[in-house]
Amino acid sequence: MMDNILEGKKIDETRQGEALEMASSSNPNGKKLFLESYGCAMNFADSEVVASILIKQGYQTTNDELEADLILINTCSIRENAEERVRKRLTNFKYRKQHQPSLIVGVLGCMAERLKKQLLEEEKLVDIVAGPDSYRDLPSLINEVEGGQKAVNVLLSREETYADISPVRLDNKGISSFVSITRGCDNMCSFCVVPFTRGRERSRDPQTIVQECRELFEQGYREVTLLGQNVDSYRWNITNKGEIKDETKPTTNFAELMAMCAEVHPDLRIRFSTSHPKDMTDEVLETIAKYDNICNYIHLPVQSGNTEVLKKMNRGYSREWYLNRIDAIKRIVPEAAISTDIITGFCGETEEQHQDTLSLIEEVKFDFAYMYKYSERPKTLAERKYEDDIPEEVKQRRLTEIITLQREQGMVINQSYVGKTVKVLVEGTSKKSDDMLCGRNDQNTMVVFPKVDVQPASYVNVKITDCTSATLIGEVVA
Ligand code: 5AD
Ligand code: SF4
Repeated sequence: MMDNILEGKKIDETRQGEALEMASSSNPNGKKLFLESYGCAMNFADSEVVASILIKQGYQTTNDELEADLILINTCSIRENAEERVRKRLTNFKYRKQHQPSLIVGVLGCMAERLKKQLLEEEKLVDIVAGPDSYRDLPSLINEVEGGQKAVNVLLSREETYADISPVRLDNKGISSFVSITRGCDNMCSFCVVPFTRGRERSRDPQTIVQECRELFEQGYREVTLLGQNVDSYRWNITNKGEIKDETKPTTNFAELMAMCAEVHPDLRIRFSTSHPKDMTDEVLETIAKYDNICNYIHLPVQSGNTEVLKKMNRGYSREWYLNRIDAIKRIVPEAAISTDIITGFCGETEEQHQDTLSLIEEVKFDFAYMYKYSERPKTLAERKYEDDIPEEVKQRRLTEIITLQREQGMVINQSYVGKTVKVLVEGTSKKSDDMLCGRNDQNTMVVFPKVDVQPASYVNVKITDCTSATLIGEVVA
């Protein structure tokens, strides 16, 4: 599943300009939309679908919440603290409404799905509650509110993929974009709320995915990230049991889909997230190896290094299976960077089991890891079946041990790049210094280098001279 790293990002002003233009060129209604997203990349991709739907209704997007007529917050339920952050935001807006009674506030995404009417009726925090499969219904939900009612749609769908909606790109750079390929998740990992909030897994028509990649390339984009909770289970015209649905039509699996996207143009980088250890096939790895423009970067969440814990987590693989997949990556795509997700302090986790996670980190040598303390989520299998019995201070100590080890290893890996030359897709000026440019290499590591005369969205070769545990530093070479 995807990482919870993009919290509280707002519509960027530059892109907002474009969105405004689009809105005013159709049928402006004079109203302004402020849209804020929390959580995983899928939420950010969904917000672009929401913006598209509402701009068609005449809304203009704004970056200034104070001038908004409609505020929509796309939310995340993955851990308790993600929800707490959003609740604080919603409480703020509630006070705003006292001074601006016409202001409409809506909650979208996973919290909408999980809490349903609670935010609306008990806590009276919002006017609209719209789950992840109900965004086409937003115009009528807004109408209901304008008619003086509260509005809710949290129906989950087995078919909705928003395949025909062209997302309005909300990032400012026009270089890299998310493209969703599946929605929902059927895996039922015992700690995870996603199957409850995002519903059953479904794949999007491959032709619409390739078409979206093509349009992005034509607009100047040079990188797409194919998104799904488990991209390896992408399947088109194939049933869950692996049978062909319609013999007269072609089938597509994830490896084939990636190849189709890679064929759009050799200068369009293809990334993907998230891979699942139980489903990632050698065919996928061979496809990555075959195409230069499919990035050598695999995010493969392990969650724990102990087989018993993995069993309780319902992950569908053992420590040995995971290590076998790592061996396959190192054999078939030797250049690949590997990152992971780890949960520490899961129900009943012993000290020895924690040591197994540390030893797995040492064995694999991850380039990067997202590391979390277990947070019990209502309704999940783990909440119903196991006790959240690891004390907070033990969770924290284990997390610190994991982070410390990972940081050391990340530093060693980055040091191994020093002296090498890497190909970087230029994103723009570095956040830390106006004199530096930044971009990512094929392996997804951030690279910074002194400014030269190149445009964003072009490729440069950078010779690495130095590094930190998270960044490579170098200079452009011919
Ligand atoms: N507690 C802590 N971390 C969680 N994740 C998912 N559910 C939980 C939870 N209840 C983590 C997993 C997943 C990542 C996106 O979030 O590591 O891969
Ligand atoms: Fe990812 Fe498992 Fe949650 Fe599905 S259930 S989104 S695979 S962690």
